[in-house]
This record gives sequence, structure tokens and C-alpha cells, in this order.
Amino acid sequence: MTYCITGAKGGANEQPHPLAGQRGSTVQTAPEATCRARAGAELTELTGLPRRSFVKIEFTRGELNKRLKAILGPHAFDETEFGEMMHDLKGTPAQRERKLRLWAWKRLDPLPPNTLKMLGHGMDHAVYTDPDKPGKVVKISVASLSLLVKWSVLFPHIGAAMPKSIVAKGEALAKSENRRYAVLASYFPAKGSVPTQTAEIAPVSVRRAVAEFLMHNDVLPNAQRICPEIDRDVVEMPALVRTQDLLPQFDKPSILHFSLSMRYPEMLDKAPLPSLYAAGNDNWILNHPSTFNEEAFQYFVEGTKLEELYKACLSDSPKGRATRAAVEDFLTRGIDFMNDSREILDVGGDGNAIFDEGRYFLPDVLSTPDIEKGLDVAAQTLRRLHELASGQGGKPVGRREIGTLIFALNQIRAINSMAQALDIPKRVHLLPPEEASRQIDWSGILEALRRFLPKDDDSSENVRVLRPKPVLIPVFGDSPWRSRVA
Ligand SMILES: Nc1ncnc2c1ncn2[C@@H]1O[C@H](COP(=O)(O)OP(=O)(O)O)[C@@H](O)[C@H]1O
Ligand SMILES: [Mg+2]
Repeated sequence: MTYCITGAKGGANEQPHPLAGQRGSTVQTAPEATCRARAGAELTELTGLPRRSFVKIEFTRGELNKRLKAILGPHAFDETEFGEMMHDLKGTPAQRERKLRLWAWKRLDPLPPNTLKMLGHGMDHAVYTDPDKPGKVVKISVASLSLLVKWSVLFPHIGAAMPKSIVAKGEALAKSENRRYAVLASYFPAKGSVPTQTAEIAPVSVRRAVAEFLMHNDVLPNAQRICPEIDRDVVEMPALVRTQDLLPQFDKPSILHFSLSMRYPEMLDKAPLPSLYAAGNDNWILNHPSTFNEEAFQYFVEGTKLEELYKACLSDSPKGRATRAAVEDFLTRGIDFMNDSREILDVGGDGNAIFDEGRYFLPDVLSTPDIEKGLDVAAQTLRRLHELASGQGGKPVGRREIGTLIFALNQIRAINSMAQALDIPKRVHLLPPEEASRQIDWSGILEALRRFLPKDDDSSENVRVLRPKPVLIPVFGDSPWRSRVA
């Protein structure tokens, strides 16, 4: 089956590119130009790169509004949310750019006008109902589109037909995910439910403004990056598309979530207190024997939906008891699944694991293909960081491994701390017991993890350089479908 949105080459709601007409223009050499400048101009010609006579680096509120409307799509853009976001848009240019990018990423509707209705969005998917598929939702992986767009810039020109071999690699990935999903589903037969899901590679129509946003990795076109212009309102490209049973529970405001609401202390502006961080990790990552540390638990779940779920479990009402029984069932089965498969249950985002009337549903707990067997990757990364931090040498660690470790630490802490809070004896084991019984210098680990965060005082990020700069295009493994080497 293919999933293709056709016949809707609208473009009526498309906004012109704000920099249209300003790209690729030639710099006029001033009469007093020096030899050095002329040599520079010749060099530029030689490299075949266009030069700009004028690059706009600040946008007015009206222009931003127009640009974001074009990126998000007319139905996904909400004027009130935009006003609130602009009100909070503070910090250095780099911080503001990141906030804008994330705001747009979490809302964008890649499709041109059509009969599908977008009903949700997360860090990976734009989720739709399709009148042709009653009882189902169609989840388009924006993350996979983003990888493909970046890859297409270099290889066949963006919008050109994708080589069959590349589509075949995506199909192999979808097949492998379907197998992983079947294993996940086999662990949750009782009070829980993993909705039926099929992943596939399907052609998807993408609006130009979305393709530009994904290509530049920025709401505002990046002055330092020269990207090809897209000359069509809509480009068609293959993407990872998941079709899943519709969960009507999402319409109920009363549902509870086992979710960290994306609060990952390693990545917060304010670093965790070293003593709390170490206590939490000794208890819930290394599983050192301890009594329940309420203070550390509160710190890790503060302001998250998991905090609400925890409180609901403590309530001695019929509803509270039913919720607690469901959470206990989820944890017991989830811990077995993680230890057996070495996969990480993704309870990072709202809506991934939901609880309703003593039952639970798991529409998005399987880690993305980038984090397959994430516990093994995270364990290895922790070992290496420990060796480096304790001066025992060791191989250097890359950004991707760090990302997987931060992700794993957060999901494991959430699951093991809730297990301890609810008197469940089982635990997820990141490291084998004798290795976990040793001491780890968590301050050193935290320092190493935080070194990888974007630096807001990094002048190279804050000061835009108005000339072409070499760009490294991330190409991983031999295929554009994974952003990380598994
Ligand atoms: N099966 C479903 N039925 C109804 N709504 C869904 C379903 N799956 C996801 N959604 C909606 O889409 C949102 C994002 O879905 P999710 O699968 O968590 O995406 P992501 O992987 O991007 O986090 C959910 O919070 C929910 O609002
Ligand atoms: Mg999700």
C-alpha cells in the first residue's frame, strides 16, 4: 500500500519565500576594490557559489508571523500560540533561533491542503485521521522527512525521484521496526494495549515552505548555508509512515500520562544539584539498595505529567486504586521488555503511554529506529565516560552516543523510580549487577554530558558571518534513513 497525498497541489496558501529575489545576486565591486577583493571575487566564481549583495538577518514580528504560517500550514498555525511564543522569545540570537525552530517543528503540517485532518503532533510525527481509513490514524514521520530532505540536497536534486536502492533501505528499516513492534506488543496483553501499527515507506507530498525549513534546519533561512531553491509548490518524497489504530481516549481531558514531558535534567539551563543527581542515579540507574528518596524523585518529576500520575496512584479512591493497578502492570511488563530486548521504552513525551479508567494504551513507546537496542549503546557510553572521567583513558565519545545515554538515563530513572515508589521489586538494569555495584562519579559524568549542549555564549553561533562557510552534511552509514549509526 502506498500513502500518497495527490490532487491537492494548492499552493494558494503558500507564502513566497521572504528572501526570494535576494539570493544569488552578484556583488558589485566598488571602484576602489583592492586586488585582494578581486581575487576573492574570482575565487568565489571558481567555486561556483552564488554571492549575496544583501542578506537580511533580523525579521519583524509581521514577517515572522507570515513565515511561520507558511511553514506550519494554515490549519496548524494558531495566532494566539504565536503571540504567546513571541512573548517568551528571549535570549541570545542562537537561543531564539532554537526556540523558534522547535516551536515550528512541533506543529508543522507538511501536507498541502487535502482531506486529512491533523489531530496531533510530537517530536517525530504529524498525526492525521484519513476519511478513507476509518478507525485508524496516519502518522507521518517528520524526522524521516527531515533526513531525506537533507540527503536529497546533495544526491539527486530535491524533488527528483529517489533511487530504488534508497527506498529499499527505508523499506528494510520499516520491516525491522514492524518486527520490534510485534515484540513490544507481545509483552502487554493484560490491562494494557499496544495499538496495532504498521510502518512503511510511502510517498508523501511536502509543501515547499516545509521542505525549505527542513533543509535549512531553521525558520529563517540560514545566511551561512547555501541551499538549492525549490521551484515547485509541492515536492514528493518517500517517508516513514505509520498507520495505527485510532485511540478515542485522546479526546478525554481526564487521561493521565506516564510522561517526563520532555524534562531531561541533563539538558536544563540550570544544572541539577550534584548531590540530588548522584542520589537519583545511584538509586534508579545503578539500583543501589536504598530507601525511597522522595526529594530526588520530586526533583526528577517536577512539573511533568508523571508527577500527576504519581499523585493519582497515591489516592485511596476506586479511581486511584485502578490507576495504580494499571501503572503496576505497565511497569512490571515494561521492565521485562526492556531487560529482555535491551530496547528503551520511550516515556519521554506526553501521549506516549496513557492511562484511562484502569487501562493503559501505548501508542508511542517504541524508541525510534535511531535508538534500537538503546540500553546497550547507553551502557557502553556510560562505561566510556566513566573511564574518561576517572582518568583511565578510553575512546572518545560522540554526540550521538551522548544523546542516547541522556535519553536512556531519563527513561530508566522514570521507570525504576516509579517502580520503587509503588513497591514493585523489578528494576531495569543498564549495567550488569557487579558492574553497577561500583561507584560512579556522577558529577564528572554530568559535566561530560553537558559539554555537548549547544553553547549560548558561543560567539560563532551568535555572530552571523555573511559569507559562505563550509557545511558538513550529516550522512550516516550508507543510507539517509537513520540519523545515528545503530
Ligand atoms: N493512535 C492515536 N489515536 C489518536 N491520537 C493519536 C494517536 N497517536 C498519536 N495521537 C496524537 O498525536 C500526538 C503525537 O503522537 P505520538 O505518536 O506521540 O508522536 P511523536 O512520536 O511525534 O511523539 C499524541 O499526543 C496524540 O495527541
Ligand atoms: Mg510521542
